[in-house]
Amino acid sequence: MSEKFEREFEDVPVNPKAASTPTIGDVIDQRYSRRGVMALMGGAAVAATLPLASCAQSVEENSAETADDFTELARGVDQTHHAAGGLNDQVVIRWGDPLFDGIGAFNPMAQSVADQEARFGYNNDYIGFVGLPDDEQGRQRALLCVNHEYTIADLMFPGRVGREATAEECAIEQAAHGGSIVEIVNIDGRWEYVQGSRYNRRITTRTQGIELTGPAAGHPRLQTSADPEGRYVTGTMNNCAGGITPWGTYLMAEENFNGYFIGETDGPEAANHERYGVPGGWYPWGRFEDRFDISREPNEPNRFGWAVEVDPLDPQSAPKKRTALGRFKHEGAESVVAANGQVVFYMGDDQRFDYVYKFVTAGRFDAENRAANRDLLDDGTLYVARFDADGSVEWMPLIFGEGPLTEENGFTSQGEVLIETRRAADLLGATPMDRPEDVQPNAQNGRIYVMLTNNSRRSEDQTDAANPRGPNLFGHIVEISEPDGDFTSTRSRWEILVRCGDPADAEVGAEWGPNTTESGWFGSPDNAAIDSANRLYVSTDGSEVRNQCANGVWRVETEGLERGNSRMIFLAPTGAEICGPRLSDDEGTFFLAVQHPGLDGEDFPPHGRPSTFADPSTRWPDFAEGMPPRSAVVALTRADGKTFSEV
Ligand code: FEO
Ligand code: CA
Ligand code: CA
Repeated sequence: MSEKFEREFEDVPVNPKAASTPTIGDVIDQRYSRRGVMALMGGAAVAATLPLASCAQSVEENSAETADDFTELARGVDQTHHAAGGLNDQVVIRWGDPLFDGIGAFNPMAQSVADQEARFGYNNDYIGFVGLPDDEQGRQRALLCVNHEYTIADLMFPGRVGREATAEECAIEQAAHGGSIVEIVNIDGRWEYVQGSRYNRRITTRTQGIELTGPAAGHPRLQTSADPEGRYVTGTMNNCAGGITPWGTYLMAEENFNGYFIGETDGPEAANHERYGVPGGWYPWGRFEDRFDISREPNEPNRFGWAVEVDPLDPQSAPKKRTALGRFKHEGAESVVAANGQVVFYMGDDQRFDYVYKFVTAGRFDAENRAANRDLLDDGTLYVARFDADGSVEWMPLIFGEGPLTEENGFTSQGEVLIETRRAADLLGATPMDRPEDVQPNAQNGRIYVMLTNNSRRSEDQTDAANPRGPNLFGHIVEISEPDGDFTSTRSRWEILVRCGDPADAEVGAEWGPNTTESGWFGSPDNAAIDSANRLYVSTDGSEVRNQCANGVWRVETEGLERGNSRMIFLAPTGAEICGPRLSDDEGTFFLAVQHPGLDGEDFPPHGRPSTFADPSTRWPDFAEGMPPRSAVVALTRADGKTFSEV
C-alpha cells in the first residue's frame, strides 16, 4: 500500500499504547520532505521537463559505482523504470491484460465489471512463483500468483476527478482487487504470459463462496445477513503481500481492510472496530452495498483481515480464510519448514506500533503427499513477539484460557482470541514496532528479516532497543536468529541489520555496512526476498521525496565483512513503489511488481500537479497517448546468463 495513500487516509495509529504520541515526527517529516524536494529540483528531477519518450536517459548509470555483478544507477527519479547495468528487464503483464480466451486488448475507455473480471487486476503487490513441468518443447513454465492490493479511481477512470463515484465504478474497483493466477512460459529467455491457460484465474472482492475455516469459522461475530452461518464470505481485499506454502498453495494477506467500510456503530463491535481503524472510509462502496456499511452490517469487518489460502493448481477450488493465523493487517505470510516438519509462518501487522507474529502448524509437512497438507493451516499456535533489550525475542502464544486471554478479559473462545488478535496481543505485552511489513525467513541459516518501514509517530521517549529512533523516518531491518535454526522456538535472538536513511547525514542516525555505495542507501524497507547466497533483496515504499530517490530494489549483504553493505539494482518510475520481489525457483529471474506508477503528490517535482487519468505524471509502461499508467510485473535477468546468487 502506498506510503502516500496511507499518510493521507490513515495517519492515526490505533494501538492505544501509542495514544500519547506527540507530533514532532510530523514536523521533522515535513522538513525532510521539503529538503528532498529542493535537492531533486536541482538534480534528477530534470526529467520533469523532458518529453516522456526521452526519460530513459535521465537516470544514468553511475560508472563510479561498480559492484561485482552489475553497475549501479545514480540516485534519481523520472517517468520510467531503470535496471542496473548488466541486467535485462521486460514487462511481463500489466493491469488490464486479458487472461482468458476471447478477451481483446485493454481499452480504459470501455471498462466494465465483466471486462475487469477477465483481466489482470490493478496495483500488483505480492508475486508468488509456482513452477510447472516444462512444456513439450522443453520450455520453462510456471504460475505467477499476484495480489492486487487497491485501486486509485482518479487514475483509473476517465473524468472521475471532481465528481462522485458511480455504483458501476465501485464494482469495477472491486473486480480490480484481489489476485490473479496466470501461467507464464519462458520463450528464448523472455517470459510471456499464456492467455487462456486453464490455470488462469481471478479472485476479487466480488468472488463468492470464500470459506472461513479454523477456530473462528462460524463464530457469531462472523455472522451477517448474507451469511447467517458465518462460514462463507464474498470477496477478499487489500491483498498486500503473501506467501507460497511449502505445499504450493498461495496465501493472500488481507491488509488495510478497515479502509473499505463506512458508517457508525455503538454496538458490541465498536471497541473492536476502533482497534483496527474501522471504518476508514477510504472507499464509497458502502453507499451502494450494505456489506461495507457497519451501521447495517457491524460484523462484516470481522470477516476481513485474514490470510487467504488458494490452490493455484485447482482453479475450481474455494479460497479459504485461515482464521488460525489471526486477524490483523496482514502484510504477508512467508513460511519455512522446521527441522521437525512443522511449518512456521512469519507475519507483520503493518501499522505504526503494531506487532510481529509467527504461526506454527500443529501438524507436519508431508512432502510426498500434497493433499495431506491441505488443512495444515487450520490447527496450530499463533505467537506474538516481544523484543527484549537483552537481544532476546519471546514468542508469546495467543491461546484462549492462558495468561490474560480469559473470560475476565472478554474472550470466550479461541475463535474470539483470533477475531481480536490485536487486543489479545496487547494484553500479552507484545512490542509495538515501527510498521512491520514483510517478514522473510531464510531456511538455510535460521535467520528471519523483519522490514520495519518507518514510524514518524514514535517519539524519542517511546524508543526501545528494537525501535531505537524516534521519530523513525527511514525504517530499519531487524534480523531474528532462531536457536540452532529451530524455527519453532519460542525464544530467539534479535539484532538490527541496518538502520535506513542517508549515512552522510549524522542527524538521521543511519547505520550501514562500510562499503555501502552512494546509491546503496535507502529508506522505507517494505518487501523482501532472499537468495541462496543469503543476500537480501529489499523493495521500498516511501522513498521518493524523503530519500531524494525513486523507490526501488536494493541488495543487502547479510554475512561476513560485507554484512550491511547495500547496492541499488532497480529504480521505479515516478509515483510507484516496488512490491513482490520474487526469485524464480532456479534464481535465474527476479520478478518484481511496480505498484501505483503515477501516484505522485502535488509536491513532487517530476509532475508538480495532481496526477489524474487525463494528466498522469507518467504513462508507464506503455507511454501511449490516452493510456493511463498501469501497474505491471517486471522480470529481470542477468545479461551474462548467470543466476542471481552467482557472483
Ligand atoms: Fe500493503 Fe504494508 O503494504
Ligand atoms: Ca507492502
Ligand atoms: Ca513481501
